[in-house]
Amino acid sequence: MKIIIDSEKRIAELAAQRYVKLLNEKPAAVLGYATGSTPLGLYAELIRLNKAGAFSYAQATSFNLDEYAGLDGSHDQSYRYFMNHNLFDHVDIRKDHTFVPSGLDLSPETAAAYDKAIEAAGGIDLQLLGIGNNGHIGFNEPGTPFGSITHLVELTESTRQANSRFFASIDEVPTHAVTMGIRTVMNAKSVILMAIGKAKAPIMKETLQGPVTENVPASVLQLHPDVEFYLDYDAASLL
Ligand code: F6R
Repeated sequence: MKIIIDSEKRIAELAAQRYVKLLNEKPAAVLGYATGSTPLGLYAELIRLNKAGAFSYAQATSFNLDEYAGLDGSHDQSYRYFMNHNLFDHVDIRKDHTFVPSGLDLSPETAAAYDKAIEAAGGIDLQLLGIGNNGHIGFNEPGTPFGSITHLVELTESTRQANSRFFASIDEVPTHAVTMGIRTVMNAKSVILMAIGKAKAPIMKETLQGPVTENVPASVLQLHPDVEFYLDYDAASLL
C-alpha cells in the first residue's frame, strides 16, 4: 500500500500523472472510473492534459463503478450524465468505448454481464475509487460480501442523505443503485482511492489502520497487491 498525502490540488495532479504514464505505455488501457465530488479535480486535470496532448484516450476503454437505479443516462443526476459532462465530452475517448452500468435494466443477468464485459476487455488496468463516510466503495455498503460482483443494492439512509446535496430533496434520491462488486474492484490490476476533506478522516483511519472487515468495505484494499491512496491533508489528519 502506498499513501500519498498532499494538498487537494497536488493529489489531483499526481493522480493524473498515473493516467498519463499508463496511457502512454498502454494506449488501449481499460480504466475504471468513479463519480462524486472527489474526482472532479482529477477529471479537470485529465481534460487539461488530454487537450495539451500529454496523452490520448483514442484507444482506451472505460467502465464506471455504478449507476442509480431508475435513472436514464440523459437524467442530469445519472452517473452517465456526470461522466459525459465532467470528462468524456471534453477528451478524445470514443463514447462507444465508455460503459456505465444500466440504471434501467436491473436484472441479475445484466449486472453479471457487466463483469463479463470487463473481463472480455482484458480486465481493468487502473480503477479509481472515492470513499463514502461509511467506508463504501462504489455503492458497496457495509456488510457487502467481499466475493460480490456487479449487483443491485439498496442504498443506506446515510448514503442517500450524503448524496441528497445534488438533488432538489432527499425524496428524489434513488433508493437503489447498480454497482460493481468488491470482487470486481479487487480484480483490477491497480487501484487508486482518493479522499478529500475532514469528513473523510475517520473512515480513512479505519480503512488504512483498522481490521480488514466487510463492515468497512474499503478495508479490503489492504489486501490488494497494487493500491495507492491519495489523501489531502484533512482526510489524512487522523492517521
Ligand atoms: C461514485 C461512488 C461512490 C463515491 C463516494 C464518495 O461513483 O462509487 O463510492 O466515490 O460516495 O463520494 P464523494 O466523492 O462525492 O464524497
